[in-house]
Amino acid sequence: MNRFESLAEIIRSRRSIRTFRNETVKPEIIEKIIESAVLAPSNNNRQGWKFYIITNKYIKEQIISDVESELDQITGKSEVIDDVMKSYRANFLIFKNAPVLLIACHLKPNKFNFRLFDIDDTNRHFTGELISTTLAVGNIMLLSEAENIGTLMMTAPLIAADRIKKTVKIPGKYSISSFLCMGYYDKKPDTPERKKFNKIAEFIN
Ligand SMILES: Cc1cc2nc3c(=O)[nH]c(=O)nc-3n(C[C@H](O)[C@H](O)[C@H](O)COP(=O)(O)O)c2cc1C
Repeated sequence: MNRFESLAEIIRSRRSIRTFRNETVKPEIIEKIIESAVLAPSNNNRQGWKFYIITNKYIKEQIISDVESELDQITGKSEVIDDVMKSYRANFLIFKNAPVLLIACHLKPNKFNFRLFDIDDTNRHFTGELISTTLAVGNIMLLSEAENIGTLMMTAPLIAADRIKKTVKIPGKYSISSFLCMGYYDKKPDTPERKKFNKIAEFIN
């Protein structure tokens, strides 16, 4: 297999895994994956990412209860939300069964840059740090796939980001970008259909 095919094969075979085996992933494997993943590009090579790796049962239980408390808080405010929540609540908590929970964080933007370039502060979440961190998480997902470790990126639990930051003791200078569930699995789901090239890309000549 040439280099393109080897990489494309890993990209094609990765699927979002939502059911994991109850088996831990050795810390040295996670370390090996992250060490390669952070060769991702980052804005000014700032590497403004931080990954919290949660395997401790009690901390995970606290994070679950953080998300549940947040969901409870929005329940009862509107019938529409309550209806959606009835069928959707469990989706916020899929990370429950993942043996490893990686919380990806990015450095909050430097306010000085906004003033310097007169950038509207309302867009402050869409910064180089968030993009760079997500590129590194993409690498973690592909490297995990190459190690037969399943992953699921989740943003739904970020509804409780403030509570989770307290539980994990994440310093104020970071925002949580995403959750990444990691673990071994028995079955891979089918590939959800992708839009065709001519729908999502265009050559401008
Ligand atoms: C930014 C982002 C957020 C996501 N959040 C969730 C989530 O909260 N819950 C979930 O079950 N899947 C989540 N996913 C997984 C997507 O549903 C999944 O990638 C998509 O359906 C395509 O399936 P595949 O990953 O198997 O190719 C998320 C994916 C991304 C990229």
